[in-house]
Amino acid sequence: MPAPGAGLVSDEIVLEVRELSVGFVRRDGSINRVVHEVSLALERGKILGLAGESGCGKSTTALAALGYRPPGSRILGGASMLDGVNLLELPATRLRGVGASGWPTWPRAPRSPSTPP
Ligand SMILES: Nc1ncnc2c1ncn2[C@@H]1O[C@H](COP(=O)(O)OP(=O)(O)O)[C@@H](O)[C@H]1O
Ligand SMILES: [Mg+2]
Repeated sequence: MPAPGAGLVSDEIVLEVRELSVGFVRRDGSINRVVHEVSLALERGKILGLAGESGCGKSTTALAALGYRPPGSRILGGASMLDGVNLLELPATRLRGVGASGWPTWPRAPRSPSTPP
């Protein structure tokens, strides 16, 4: 007899982040690299936590992996694959479509429009 919950969790990878590097542009135009070649995989039905001291890059990693690009941020390398699509290469308009079709929530700056203008 299968254990309770068996079949609900699989090792299917939903999102795969490969060697993601992210930086922010400084006032002098140089780049402050804050995420260095991070790789991780989100498996369906499982929870993955990012732990580390304040300012180590947890939020920047998670937001960049979902394709969100805060003003001044730069993707310096890597990929974030969802259903065979690299979210880091999608224009913002296409990202909204990805959110509508598959993601239960989507990061968005406060008071920014919820639909494309
Ligand atoms: N919008 C931003 N502009 C410039 N630097 C930023 C911005 N957001 C975060 N940073 C810098 O990137 C680094 C990582 O920040 P963050 O990802 O917020 O860390 P954590 O979530 O682990 O506390 C920090 O040095 C922070 O100052
Ligand atoms: Mg944070």
